[in-house]
Amino acid sequence: MKLPSQVKLVDVGPRDGLQNEKQPVSADIKIGLVHRLQDAGLMEIEVTSFVSPKWVPQMADNAEVMHGIVRKPGVRYSVLTPNMKGFEAAIAAPREEWPDEIVVFGAASEAFSQKNINCSIAESIERFAPVVAAALEKGIRVRGAMSCTVGCPYEGEIAPAKVGYLAQLMKGIGVQRVDVADTIGVGTPRKVQAAMEATLAHFDVDAISGHFHDTYGQALVNTLAALELGVWNFQSSSAGLGGCPYAKGATGNVATEDVVYMLHGMGIATGIDLDKLIDAGVYISEALGREPNSRASKAIRTKRAG
Ligand code: HMG
Ligand code: MG
Repeated sequence: MKLPSQVKLVDVGPRDGLQNEKQPVSADIKIGLVHRLQDAGLMEIEVTSFVSPKWVPQMADNAEVMHGIVRKPGVRYSVLTPNMKGFEAAIAAPREEWPDEIVVFGAASEAFSQKNINCSIAESIERFAPVVAAALEKGIRVRGAMSCTVGCPYEGEIAPAKVGYLAQLMKGIGVQRVDVADTIGVGTPRKVQAAMEATLAHFDVDAISGHFHDTYGQALVNTLAALELGVWNFQSSSAGLGGCPYAKGATGNVATEDVVYMLHGMGIATGIDLDKLIDAGVYISEALGREPNSRASKAIRTKRAG
C-alpha cells in the first residue's frame, strides 16, 4: 500500500510525558513546553489531565496550566477526563479556556482498567457515556484512548478481539476517534497491525491514531507498520518523556523528534520544524535535569556543536 503523504502528530509530552515524573514540575514550565511545541508546528497538544490529584499529583495544576497557555489559532488542545467530575472541572473555566477535545481512556485489559481507573471495562464505558454526550453537546471533540492493545503489565498478551470489543464500545457511546495504545511498549509490527485491524472494523482509518511507548525500542518500527495500514495520526512525546504510573516498567512515549526525523526522511510531511522541536525537548529535559531521550535529538545536537 502507498504510505500516507502527510502525518499529524499529537504531542502528549505535557500530559503523558510529565504525569509520571516524581519531582514536581511547575505550571510555568509546563506552559513553556506547550508554547514551544506550538511554535515548533505541532497542531495538536495533549496539555494535561483532569484526574484525581491523589492518583496523579503531577497533574493537580491542570486548571492553572489551561489558564496559562496562550493559544495559537488552529492548534487543538486536548485533556484527559475519566469521569463527569473531571469533565466538569475541565469546563469550569471561561469558554476560551475549555479544551478543544477531551479524552476518555479505557483499556483492552480488565486488570489494567482496574489499576488505572479503578473500575471494570464495562463500568468505564458507563462512566464515559455521559462525559462523551456532554462534550459533544458543548461542541467539544471526543477521543478515546485504548490502553494495553498489545500487552498488559498484569495480563500479558492481549488478543486483538479484546481491542475490537473495546473499540466497538467506544464507538457505541459516540467517541469520534480512538488511540490504539501500546502502553508498555511490548508490541512488534505484526501484533500492532493486528490491534489496528481490529480497530479498523469499527473506526475509519482517519479516526485512528497510534500511541506507542518505546520500552522495547519498537515504537518507530511499529509506527511504520501502522503507516502501512494507512494510519496517519500518531502520538508521541517531545524528548521521549512519558509513562503511566499504573504501568510499572513502561518507559516513555516514542520521542516526537525521532518520529519527525523518520517521517521527513521518508518524504512524509508533518508541518513540524525539527530544530525548534529539538529545542523544546532540550527545554523540558533541562527542567527535569536530564538529557532528552531521543537519538535524533542527540545526533543533531552533536552535529550542531561540531
Ligand atoms: P475513584 O477513587 O474510583 O473515584 O478514582 P471516585 O469517584 O470513587 O472518587 C474518589 C475520590 O476521588 C473523591 O474524592 C472524588 O471527588 C475524587 P474524596 O471524596 O476522596 O476527596 N475524584 C476526582 N478528583 C479530581 N478529578 C477527578 C476525580 N474523580 C474522582 N476527575 C479515578 C477514579 C478515575 C478518578 C482515578 O482512578 C484516577 O484519577 N486515576 C488516574 C488515572 C490516570 O490518570 N492514569 C494515567 C493516564 S492514562 C495513560 O497514561 C494511558 C494513555 O497514555 C494511553 C496508553 O499509553 O495506554 C492515555
Ligand atoms: Mg501513554
